[in-house]
Amino acid sequence: MSKPLHWGILGTGRIARKFAGQLGGASRGKLASVGSRGVESAEEFGQQYGALTFGDYDAVLADPQVDAVYISLPNALHHRWTLRALNKGKHVLCEKPIAGNTAEAEEMFDTARRRGRLLVEAFMYRFHPAIGRLIETVRGGAIGDVKLIRSHFTFNRLEPADVRFQPRLAGGSMMDVGCYCINLSRALAGGEPTAVHAAAHLHPSGVDDYAAGTLDFDGRTLAAFTCGMTVEANRTTYVGGSDGYIEIDCPWFCDDTFTLVTGQGDTRHTVRAEATAGLYAMEADGMAAAVHEGVDVPVTEADSLGNMRVLDQLRQQVGVPF
Ligand SMILES: NC(=O)c1ccc[n+]([C@@H]2O[C@H](COP(=O)([O-])OP(=O)(O)OC[C@H]3O[C@@H](n4cnc5c(N)ncnc54)[C@H](OP(=O)(O)O)[C@@H]3O)[C@@H](O)[C@H]2O)c1
Repeated sequence: MSKPLHWGILGTGRIARKFAGQLGGASRGKLASVGSRGVESAEEFGQQYGALTFGDYDAVLADPQVDAVYISLPNALHHRWTLRALNKGKHVLCEKPIAGNTAEAEEMFDTARRRGRLLVEAFMYRFHPAIGRLIETVRGGAIGDVKLIRSHFTFNRLEPADVRFQPRLAGGSMMDVGCYCINLSRALAGGEPTAVHAAAHLHPSGVDDYAAGTLDFDGRTLAAFTCGMTVEANRTTYVGGSDGYIEIDCPWFCDDTFTLVTGQGDTRHTVRAEATAGLYAMEADGMAAAVHEGVDVPVTEADSLGNMRVLDQLRQQVGVPF
């Protein structure tokens, strides 16, 4: 087996459990320790997934077994705990969105550079080979000039106390799921938008609970997205070009396929690129390859900063504090 990466996890919430649950299926990931605000929660998590447990986060950062830290905390805490982890010499995989705003994200990447450590935003869907193939296919010209992109990510299953409803924890639908649509649209368009617009519905808590937006890439490619966390449920993406189009059912949790339609609708191909493991396991393996062999990760610093800038502009337009 190639050299593994030993992980420490901060927080025992929903996504921490998914990540820990899939690490066993990663070929190069081993769970070392977990930290929680509560000792009991840490112990229950440690028993379930097999980790050393701590009743605080700093102890994970001090654990010499830990090479890389997975930050699965609410958005507003990404900045503080990423900085602390980097300053303790750890590599960091930080959940999306990378930070509460662009200034925070810039400081995080500057610190990673100064400390010589890797910092990656955990857009797990980008580690799926079919998403890599989708982006290559579009950028490679298979549908001609890319003109329209529509992407959607909505769901409706949150408890009122969920961190996503809390403005002080940098919640909101654009931060939670709109960020995926923005990320994929930018990747498919192959650049940064020159103008962005958003309309949003504000939840009584003050965050946007559903929103619609557009990204204009120099007047050539136009992208529209909808996102929501109190809305049933559309997760599709369409990419329309001068010579064909692509449909993908759910790029965020891809079923290994997308549909490429060319020849004025006459030819439909199912393009398949199979996952080698669960999404979070592929993400952990991608981090190990990047740390140990310098292999590129699909989500770069420039990508994360570009996404955060768009999120800042859209939130400013709809009056959501950030
Ligand atoms: N990539 C994906 O597929 C994906 C999916 C869902 C979420 N996410 C991202 O992952 C992050 C966490 O989301 P989640 O759904 O796992 O949230 P969650 O279930 O609420 O878990 C967050 C954890 O953070 C810790 N925490 C620390 N301070 C907190 C506070 N003031 N309030 C609440 N929790 C606090 C808690 O762990 P302890 O009590 O153990 O300390 C809590 O369990 C977010 O950034 C989100 O955007 C990513």
